Amino acid sequence: MDRLNRLDRMILRLATQRDLLRWAASLAAGLPGPVLEFGLGKGRTYDFLRALCADREIFAFDRDIHGPADCVPNPDHLFLGEFDDTLPAATARLGPVAALAHVDVGSEDRAADARLVAWLGLAVAPLLRPGALVVADRAMTVDGWRRLDPPDAGDGDHHVYRVAMFDYRTSTK
Ligand SMILES: C[S@@+](CC[C@H](N)C(=O)[O-])C[C@H]1O[C@@H](n2cnc3c(N)ncnc32)[C@H](O)[C@@H]1O
Repeated sequence: MDRLNRLDRMILRLATQRDLLRWAASLAAGLPGPVLEFGLGKGRTYDFLRALCADREIFAFDRDIHGPADCVPNPDHLFLGEFDDTLPAATARLGPVAALAHVDVGSEDRAADARLVAWLGLAVAPLLRPGALVVADRAMTVDGWRRLDPPDAGDGDHHVYRVAMFDYRTSTK
């Protein structure tokens, strides 16, 4: 793709995010379980997910709150702190229950993002049920996650994964 100006890049990024969240949520429709939002940020995608998945609980994760008050989950649904502290606590509390996860942690620093998602996938995996969907704004490589081909590649930065239907952690396959 030709280099886009920053405004068009942002518009494409947000449109891709919205389209892939819709697509992944439709694929997860038959699965029970909550939605996990990694990177609450300004609460834009959290607010979108609330409308999209109105019948599901949503748990959000971030190191701090910097969005509007009406897009901040109640304390029972908010894991505030560094991911490496909050994910083990969330796993202990919730277990492998989530049907859909949104990993929205990208920054301007691609090298730092790559280091982050290299371990984040392993920390997110124990929270997901077999068959769960993951939408991520950086490529992730996790055993038992299969990359899906979305109807439209969008900005090229977003990826959708499906967790294996069998429990790959205990399977000998
Ligand atoms: C791209 S923003 C999320 C945008 C948000 N989904 C929205 O729609 O407004 C990424 C967020 O990830 C959070 N974040 C990045 N690394 C983190 C870490 N290691 N632990 C906790 N939060 C982190 C940042 O604080 C930031 O709010």
